[in-house]
Amino acid sequence: MQDPKYTVRLMKEEDVPQVTEIDREVFPTEWMFRLSSSYYKEFKNPLAYYLVASTQSDAFTKSKMLSLTQLPLFKDFFNNAHDDYREEQNSQNPYIVGFAGLWMMAHNAHIMSLAVRDRYRNQGIGEALLIAVTELVSNLDANMITLEVRSSNDVAQALYKKHGFREVGYRSRYYSDNGEDAVIMNTDSLSTASFQLSFRILKEEHIRKYNNISLEIS
Ligand SMILES: CC(C)(COP(=O)(O)OP(=O)(O)OC[C@H]1O[C@@H](n2cnc3c(N)ncnc32)[C@H](O)[C@@H]1OP(=O)(O)O)[C@@H](O)C(=O)NCCC(=O)NCCS
Repeated sequence: MQDPKYTVRLMKEEDVPQVTEIDREVFPTEWMFRLSSSYYKEFKNPLAYYLVASTQSDAFTKSKMLSLTQLPLFKDFFNNAHDDYREEQNSQNPYIVGFAGLWMMAHNAHIMSLAVRDRYRNQGIGEALLIAVTELVSNLDANMITLEVRSSNDVAQALYKKHGFREVGYRSRYYSDNGEDAVIMNTDSLSTASFQLSFRILKEEHIRKYNNISLEIS
C-alpha cells in the first residue's frame, strides 16, 4: 500500500491563509463576503467546524523529496514543474488542497462550503471531505445534513446525490452575483440503519479506490 498523500483533518489556525486563497479561487464572485478575518473568527464560534485536505508534511516525506531532487533527471523535472507544484513541495507547511466548512444548528449540520483546488479535482478529495464531514457530524449527534447548492452545479449535486442527499426545495434567486436559484438538499436521518449502511459501503469503496487519502476524523 502506498503512503497516504493527503490527510483530511480539522483546520488549524495556520491553514487559514490557504483556505482563504482556495475560497477566493473557487468562489471568486462570492469571495467579498468571506474575508480571511471571518475564518479566524470561526475558531471562536462553537457551532462552526472546518476540515481541510492537506499534503502530508512529516519529516519522512520531506527527506524523501529532498533526496529525490538531488537526482539529475528529477532536478530537471522539478525545475520545470508548475509553480504550484514547486510551492507545494518546497513548503515547510502542509499544502492545503481543499476544505469543507459546516455549522451545527439545532442538531442539524449545515454545509457552508466545500471546495477543492482546480488542479486536484477528480482524485477523490471532495468525496473524502464529505465523508469526513458525515463522520464528524454523526459523532456530534446531528440528525441530518443540509446544504444549498447552485441549480447549475451538476458536479457538486452528483457528489451529494451519491451520498444520499435529496432535493427538498429551492431558494429563488438565492445567489446575488447572478440571481441563480439554490437547490436545498438534505440527507435522511443520519441514525437510520439504511443511511449508516450505505455510508459505510461508500466509505469502504472510497478507501479501496483512493488509498493515498487518510481520514483523521473519528
Ligand atoms: C464539487 C467538488 C468539491 C468535487 O470535488 P472532487 O475532488 O473533484 O470530487 P471527487 O473526485 O471526490 O468526486 C466524487 C464524486 O463527485 C462527482 N463528480 C466529481 N467530478 C464530476 C464531474 N466532472 N462530473 C460529474 N460528477 C462529478 C461524482 O459523483 C464523483 O463520484 P464518482 O467518482 O464515483 O463518479 C469540486 O468539483 C469543487 O471544488 N467544485 C467547485 C466548488 C463547488 O462547486 N463546491 C460545492 C458548493 S455547494
